[in-house]
Amino acid sequence: MCVVKMTLGWPGGSEELPMVDVYIPMMKAAAIISAGQLRLFEALAAGPLPAGRLAEAIGASEVGVTHLADFLVALGYLHEDQAGYSNSRRATRWFTVGGDVDYTAGLLWTAESWGLMGQLTEAVRKGAPEKSLWSSMQERPHWGPIFSSYMQAFARHLGPDLLARVTPPEGARRMLDLGGSHGLHSVGFCRAHLELESVIVDFPSALTETEAMLRREGLSSRITVRPGDLLHGDWGTGYDLVLYLSVAHNQTPEDNARVLRHIGAVLRPGGLLVIHEYLTGAPLDVYDAAFRLTLLTETATRTYGLEEFAAWLDAAGFEPPVRQDLEPREKGSLLLARRR
Ligand SMILES: C[S@@+](CC[C@H](N)C(=O)[O-])C[C@H]1O[C@@H](n2cnc3c(N)ncnc32)[C@H](O)[C@@H]1O
Repeated sequence: MCVVKMTLGWPGGSEELPMVDVYIPMMKAAAIISAGQLRLFEALAAGPLPAGRLAEAIGASEVGVTHLADFLVALGYLHEDQAGYSNSRRATRWFTVGGDVDYTAGLLWTAESWGLMGQLTEAVRKGAPEKSLWSSMQERPHWGPIFSSYMQAFARHLGPDLLARVTPPEGARRMLDLGGSHGLHSVGFCRAHLELESVIVDFPSALTETEAMLRREGLSSRITVRPGDLLHGDWGTGYDLVLYLSVAHNQTPEDNARVLRHIGAVLRPGGLLVIHEYLTGAPLDVYDAAFRLTLLTETATRTYGLEEFAAWLDAAGFEPPVRQDLEPREKGSLLLARRR
């Protein structure tokens, strides 16, 4: 325990103990993921619990929970006092239902996709994964809903920024949500703008829960889904507003150029395209560089820069995009582009 606390004080391992830089991040990720799988943070949402009662609440052993909780205390995710263990502000905020955004689905997805990183070396050798994330998802049908729930957490986080910063064009009625998955962005726009109707295009694996959600929300008549590959499918035409949110990094440059040309063809003059992306820059920051490595092992694609988007948009008949960087920076950027 004492060793753990000491090592956490070191920013990135040390000359003498280089494996700390590998061992502690691995254990940190494993412990937070386990807490998510066991719903440990949720069990503490109502107040502190001693180890025995916490173990009972989550159906685990007391010895196991004690070791896990002690490490989470060292990491700053839990506190411990005479009443037992309690959530830190950070754990409450990000990993409980009552917090700002519950990213537990992100922990569950990371647990599922953990094995993909075992293929990193091979992906580096070959410049691409053995199999794309989308093919792996077809082989593991339970992945689609977990990935989609993780994307929902991101969407809950991003939704208020999007609605505050995007005004649909005058008289807008028809919206297209490309790679819309869980449907939350379509729901947000259709709730905020009562005259809007939306079409969501995504792979069938990403849409397994979407129609049921739209029925629950009473929006099935205004929001419809079109399962399919957006690179090859027909999306309909005559749109006033198109969302292309966090989808470009999953496409090659050639496919993005093609998709944006297709968007230009189905969007009316004066119509608005909203892109959300993690724009790359030079030098790469650590988050961007890590994400690019993830994309190499998942889809053999990468993040793109403003200049690349501007060139694709110009060729697709758009005015120069307006860039809006979100806070914190890890939330990415919006590009708003109007059809000429
Ligand atoms: C990172 S998620 C973003 C989801 C959603 N737009 C959001 O912002 O929360 C990317 C989505 O694009 C979809 N997607 C990627 N490539 C696609 C393709 N070729 N055809 C259809 N959907 C695709 C994925 O299935 C996934 O739902």
